[in-house]
Formats: sequence, structure tokens, C-alpha cells
Amino acid sequence: METKSIHWDGSSLHFLDQTALPGETVFRDTQDYSEVIEAIKKLRIRGAPLIGIAASYGMLLAARQFTTLGYDSFCNNMDASRAQMAASRPTAVNLFWALEQVKQVLRVQNTVDGSVNALEKLALEIHEDDRKRCNAIGTHGATLISDGDRILTHCNAGALATGGIGTALGAIFTAHDQGKNIHVYADETRPLLQGSRLTMWELQQTTIPSTLICDNTAAMTMRDKKVSLVITGADRIAANGDSVNKIGTYGLAIMAAHHGIPFYIAAPKSTIDMRVISGDEIPIEERGAEEVTTINGKRLAPEDVDVFAPAFDVTPNGLIHGIVTEDGICRAPYTESLSKLFAPT
Ligand code: MRU
Repeated sequence: METKSIHWDGSSLHFLDQTALPGETVFRDTQDYSEVIEAIKKLRIRGAPLIGIAASYGMLLAARQFTTLGYDSFCNNMDASRAQMAASRPTAVNLFWALEQVKQVLRVQNTVDGSVNALEKLALEIHEDDRKRCNAIGTHGATLISDGDRILTHCNAGALATGGIGTALGAIFTAHDQGKNIHVYADETRPLLQGSRLTMWELQQTTIPSTLICDNTAAMTMRDKKVSLVITGADRIAANGDSVNKIGTYGLAIMAAHHGIPFYIAAPKSTIDMRVISGDEIPIEERGAEEVTTINGKRLAPEDVDVFAPAFDVTPNGLIHGIVTEDGICRAPYTESLSKLFAPT
């Protein structure tokens, strides 16, 4: 199952508005980079790899919007729009990874037209590359999945979050395609419900048996439904393997350890940030109180309550059995296994 969450037609960017799912399948199209920034901020475009892909297309749109300027003004405007793009969300490193590539590509250009062409080539490459990375993650991840497994996942790490079949869900889809009988439990993922709205939507388009649970049902599900594997995506992985993912992932890893269930992270190398030594250094986005106090505009809490709404948490490396990447499965000690991934060949 592969949903095209984003598509470049040569002049416009088309993207699926993930805030409208599952009720409506709304594709938006834009030629304006500031709409891409807005879409990332509002989670119309979301999921670490997809944010990186969208940022690269967004910078292509910016370049196309500045083509009437002289080369110096073009460069100044590109620097400013890259900074605006970088400020859209702080946690998923794929955003900064993609913007760094944009910067490097522009550095070796000296004309406006050359810059636009080079950015189009780059964005298409980043997109296609992510599709291939997902397939490879799926293949490696599926080796962890056995016939009869009951798998619990959190948030959405599927086709909607990437340029391909997904990471954690990619492993699940691949295992299913290999004929393994599996059952997936999806956490609803409060407060923005990526699990119930998006992961269940993706799973429903397959024949994989799946069950939606409230986040607070995870421990009981692990014990009573005999969950055999927990696998999630990640937004940023530190050099020591500490992994940042959607809020609630840390709790799941603790519960999995208590029940003796292996806990895996699946993510492309573009999600690994070797510049940060541990999870403590990763900025955790805090979102607006209204995302917790309201649903679809309906108030769930009294006015003016104090709210703590981190969008992500850090799962310490000691709780992680392995990190599935496109190049294979890294095991502890992660400082060694992750740095090998980036060693020159
Ligand atoms: O706030 P979101 O919906 O962008 O958070 C997404 C997640 O936490 C995903 O699990 C992560 O980006 C991995 S997507 C392959």
C-alpha cells in the first residue's frame, strides 16, 4: 500500500492535507513556498521524512518565486526563506538535513536559472531516495516479524509520513506481503490522533487485521493480547541511539520492557543526527494548549487550565532492541553501530 502524500508536477506541488483525514481526502496544490511552511506548521504535511521532502520542494517553489530578481537578491531571498522553512518545526531532523542539502546545492551555482534547475533535481532525488529507503527499511524490518506476531505501533510511520511505504508501517506492510499472518494494534496517539486518523486509515486499505486502542490501553493490550513486538518511527535519533518520537513512545518502551516485549525503532539515516550525542540535546516541540483542551473546536477542559503539551519524547537507548535503517538493523552499543552507518566506504 503506498499513498502518494506529495507530488511535484513540474510547476505545482500537490499534497494530501493530513488534517482532513480520515473524513475527507483533500489534495491541495500550491506554487507558494510560504504555504508549504504553513502546511508543515499545521501538520497538513507531517512525519519526519515527509517534512524533509516537502521542505526541499518548498525551497524549489521559493526559487521559482524569486526568478525575476537579480542573482544577489535571489540569493538573499533564498537565505531568508530557508531560515523561515527551518523555523517551521524544531524536532524532526529530516527538515534540517534537507535544508542543508539545499544550501550545498545553491553554494555551487552562480545563476538564477541554474539554481532553480539544481533545486528541482535535488527535490526529486530526495523524494525518490526516500521511497527506496522505505523499501529497504521494510525489507530489514520484516525480518523481525514472524508469522503470528501481534504488533503494536504508535503515531503514524506509514506512507503518509514518508515518500514511500513508510518506516515502521513499511516493515509491517512488507511482512504482510511476504504472507506472514500478523495483527496490528494502533495507539490512537493523543492529542492529534495520528494513530486513529492516519495509521488506521492506511491499515484499512490493506487486508492486515488491525485494532485501534486508546493510548492508555497499551499496557493491558501488551499483556492480555500477547503483543510480541512494538515498532515505531522516529523524528530524530542521537549518536548514542536515544530516539525521539511522538509523545507516548517513551512510555510504550517502558511498558514493553516490563512485559519482555522487544521494542524497535525504524527510521532512515536522514533521521539520525550524529551531531547530537544524546537525546537530552534534541529540541522537543511544545504545541498549543488548544490541541489538548479541544477536539474539532469542542472544548474538553475548563477555560484557562494549565497544559503541558510536548509533541515528542525521548526513548533512552537502553530500552531499544534495535534501530532498523535502510542499511540494516543497528544494535547496542549504538555509538558504534550508528557511526559505522556513516563511515566512508
Ligand atoms: O507530529 P508528527 O505527526 O509529525 O509526528 C510524527 C511522528 O512522530 C512519526 O512517528 C515520525 O515522524 C516517524 S514518520 C516515518
